[in-house]
Amino acid sequence: MNVGIDKIGFATTQYLLNMDDLAKERGVDPDKYSKGLLLENLSIAPITEDIITLGASAADSILSDEDKETIDMVIVATESSIDQSKAAATYIHHLLGIQPFARSIEMKEACYSATAALDYARLHVEKHPDSKVLVIAADVARYGANTPGEPTQGAGSVAMLVTQNPRILLLNDNSVAQTRDIMDFWRPNYSTTPYVNGMYSTKQYLDMLKTTWAEFQKRFDTSLADFSAFCFHLPFPKLALKGFRKIMDKSLPTQWQEKLQANFESSILYSKQVGNIYTGSLFLGLLSLLENSQNLAAGDRIAFFSYGSGAVAEIFTGTLVDGFQEQLHSSRLQELNQRQPLSVATYEKLFFEEAQLDADGNATFADYLTGPFALKEILGHERLYGRTNDKN
Ligand code: CAA
Repeated sequence: MNVGIDKIGFATTQYLLNMDDLAKERGVDPDKYSKGLLLENLSIAPITEDIITLGASAADSILSDEDKETIDMVIVATESSIDQSKAAATYIHHLLGIQPFARSIEMKEACYSATAALDYARLHVEKHPDSKVLVIAADVARYGANTPGEPTQGAGSVAMLVTQNPRILLLNDNSVAQTRDIMDFWRPNYSTTPYVNGMYSTKQYLDMLKTTWAEFQKRFDTSLADFSAFCFHLPFPKLALKGFRKIMDKSLPTQWQEKLQANFESSILYSKQVGNIYTGSLFLGLLSLLENSQNLAAGDRIAFFSYGSGAVAEIFTGTLVDGFQEQLHSSRLQELNQRQPLSVATYEKLFFEEAQLDADGNATFADYLTGPFALKEILGHERLYGRTNDKN
């Protein structure tokens, strides 16, 4: 049965931090960020925008009423959960008005878990062909001011609707995963920011790419010649570029190498403007590729490298279906340009603000810009969300 991505949506914040401004403030050569990391802007979330509001906004941008009546599973993949017990998917299920007889869960493995969510969705639809599964990858990547990871922060969400006979991408039944118990990036329950062995994490990313790709090629008797594009997890685009160079097969015809290179460039355009969105960043790469590539056609195969610190990596593949272009936007970069730029001082205030709870667990917030959904207040330790234009 043909199962895959029928719709794909994206949401990010209404504020941005320009990398040159950050470099100036931190006393760093701006080229380090623009050329060394390949980043131009980062999306900055105020306290009223989190994985619930971003995830709901991304999904809201693609779902029809009929979808909401048919979806029977909602999976939110995230590193930046807002609750140790309650699944983010339950809030989003409610905010979107999805029919009640659905399973709603949250999945975690750093930046990797959306890949597992997508595979679970694929298997569910194969077993129940009339089902639709909503997979949401949502994260706020927050390392802290003045840390090495600071220039690789970001916030956003990608939502994907998985169905039979999808209109964008068939998910193929071939993948290879790899697990290594390593401490390259982790976040204990008591910490709002991760502990990071940065250089080690980049080495692990590249080594897991090399070894997983070698195993994938061996198991499925395939090579780069069978793919029109390769999408990577994008903690920052420069690392993916190193990965791309690592897997490039110099024996391929020049034209094929150039096609892969052009498609790689297309896949990092949005990430350069948004920064790291952890679980969603691989799929933001897919969206960027599909909405900006000039050379993709139905039947083309795309390879994906998913990486989550800790660490789990996976290579899987998809095939573009006829008419995929009709499901996409062409004005995404213009929309990203409409975000409000912040000074470094304001970014520090917004991005690291913490809820000031009173003795009864209540907190209110200043009026920040958000997408269609916002965290309205915390009442007795309950986070209350709603549409931005609703008064309560
Ligand atoms: N002009 C141009 N380039 C410059 C420059 C200048 N003036 N100064 C430095 N650079 C280049 C450096 O040469 C380097 O590029 P190369 O690696 O190609 O040589 C690049 O800028 C980065 O500079 P540094 O090597 O000095 O590294 P850094 O101190 O800025 O730290 C980092 C880089 C470790 C990745 C840090 O940003 C970090 O800790 N990030 C968070 C962790 C992370 O993203 N890890 C990725 C793998 S883990 C993962 O994928 C999961 C996830 O999403 C977190």
